[in-house]
Amino acid sequence: MHHLLLLSIIIAIATPLGAIPSQSGAQSAKQVYQTTKKFPLANPGNIPVHDPNIILHNEQYYLFKGGVNIPIFKSANVSGPWEKLGTVLAGDSIIPKTNRTRPWAPTTIEKDGTFYCYYTVSAKGSRDSAIGVATTTSLDGSPWTDHGVLINTGTGAGSGVWPYTITNAIDASVVFDRDSGQAYLNYGSFWHDIWQVPLEDDLLSVRDGEAPDAVQLTFIPRAKTKPEEGVWVSFRDGFYYAWFSHGNCCNFKNGFPGRGKEYSIRVGRSRSVRGPFEDKTGKSLLEGGGTVVYGSNHGAVYAPGGLGVLPGNNDSMDILYYHYLNTSGGFKHGEAQLGWNYLKYEDGWPVPVEGTNATANNAFGYGPPGWGYLAIMSGLWLCIWQ
Ligand SMILES: *[C@@H]1O[C@H](CO)[C@@H](O)[C@H](O)[C@H]1NC(C)=O
Ligand SMILES: *[C@@H]1O[C@H](CO)[C@@H](O)[C@H](O)[C@H]1NC(C)=O
Ligand SMILES: *[C@@H]1O[C@H](CO)[C@@H](O)[C@H](O)[C@H]1NC(C)=O
Ligand SMILES: *[C@@H]1O[C@H](CO)[C@@H](O)[C@H](O)[C@H]1NC(C)=O
Ligand SMILES: *[C@@H]1O[C@H](CO)[C@@H](O)[C@H](O)[C@H]1NC(C)=O
Repeated sequence: MHHLLLLSIIIAIATPLGAIPSQSGAQSAKQVYQTTKKFPLANPGNIPVHDPNIILHNEQYYLFKGGVNIPIFKSANVSGPWEKLGTVLAGDSIIPKTNRTRPWAPTTIEKDGTFYCYYTVSAKGSRDSAIGVATTTSLDGSPWTDHGVLINTGTGAGSGVWPYTITNAIDASVVFDRDSGQAYLNYGSFWHDIWQVPLEDDLLSVRDGEAPDAVQLTFIPRAKTKPEEGVWVSFRDGFYYAWFSHGNCCNFKNGFPGRGKEYSIRVGRSRSVRGPFEDKTGKSLLEGGGTVVYGSNHGAVYAPGGLGVLPGNNDSMDILYYHYLNTSGGFKHGEAQLGWNYLKYEDGWPVPVEGTNATANNAFGYGPPGWGYLAIMSGLWLCIWQ
């Protein structure tokens, strides 16, 4: 029997799970950030960014981020290096609201050879916001046309229309119904959380603007603050996935929120693009549900959020990308970094994978298939034989 025990010990030591170096627990335990190894480390995208948006076009990645006139970058690799191409807007957004020099949270889609960049004009802690859109037919330098506002909240044309009367027009993303081709704009934040409205076929305005067919995607009832924003809707294998950021995004240089109250990335799914979405436990996203897919980890990655999903195909896995703070660096807004992980799906639920190997598609995402199970089995043997 001894050789079996010995074999188990060797496997337990040799397995990649056992080989993850332990953090300096004494120091980390005092910190507010999570030391869990439940989530894989972020693969660095090697560019400072807040609310990143990445699209793949002609085998090149194009990255859009919030900032002066909406900067655009290009790379052959999600890990960079990123080359700055210019900006979406040639100057201020034509939307006459505060901070229109620096739109937030762009999302760019392509349809029939035209690129549409949806952006937010808002100010910290304000509901006086707007979602605008700009278009171009080429990503490599041609000027974009700013079409201005789709949705106003707080002030401006249409801001008296429900549900703009109770929501906040920030953090737009767009999803197409796979069957009908209808486009939907998703948006929202702490004010009544996340909503969806249909777009006109030209993608430049909301359909039935005076009485839009709006549905609510997420809500935290009975809570004073409702920290959900930054929605993204992806599709895979018959399900739409509604992703969002939950918690506090920023201002950490002024102090940290309680552990676990910082940004994390959550998801629910539905057979219909319009919902209702449910998390893995069956809880509705309208009842505060949302499975945590990625959060602070290893005492290194802090407050990941502002995410998007790049769809894979038969040869490549989906990519979850987001911004995060590296606890070894600073916590200022401008110090947030691009991070990413491949996604595998377990029983139809997305799980981020360690490392940059797109084919690492095994049970735990570490090492060759089966090692994780062997580790558990050998652990059981150790218990039994002791
Ligand atoms: C992408 O960049 C990473 C990190 O620099 C590197 O390991 C990888 O080989 C690159 N992949 C490709 C396809 O160039
Ligand atoms: C406008 O943007 C600047 C730079 O990001 C920021 O410092 C300032 O607080 C913003 N103004 C408001 C009212 O949010
Ligand atoms: C992916 O594989 C499936 C099954 O083999 C096939 O039906 C489908 O056409 C493939 N899709 C692409 C984009 O290659
Ligand atoms: C955090 O920064 C340190 C120091 O620059 C670096 O060694 C580490 O790889 C970074 N970790 C992540 C997850 O970015
Ligand atoms: C990546 O996957 C390939 C194919 O399964 C494998 O041969 C290779 O060893 C893996 N690399 C790492 C670093 O895990």
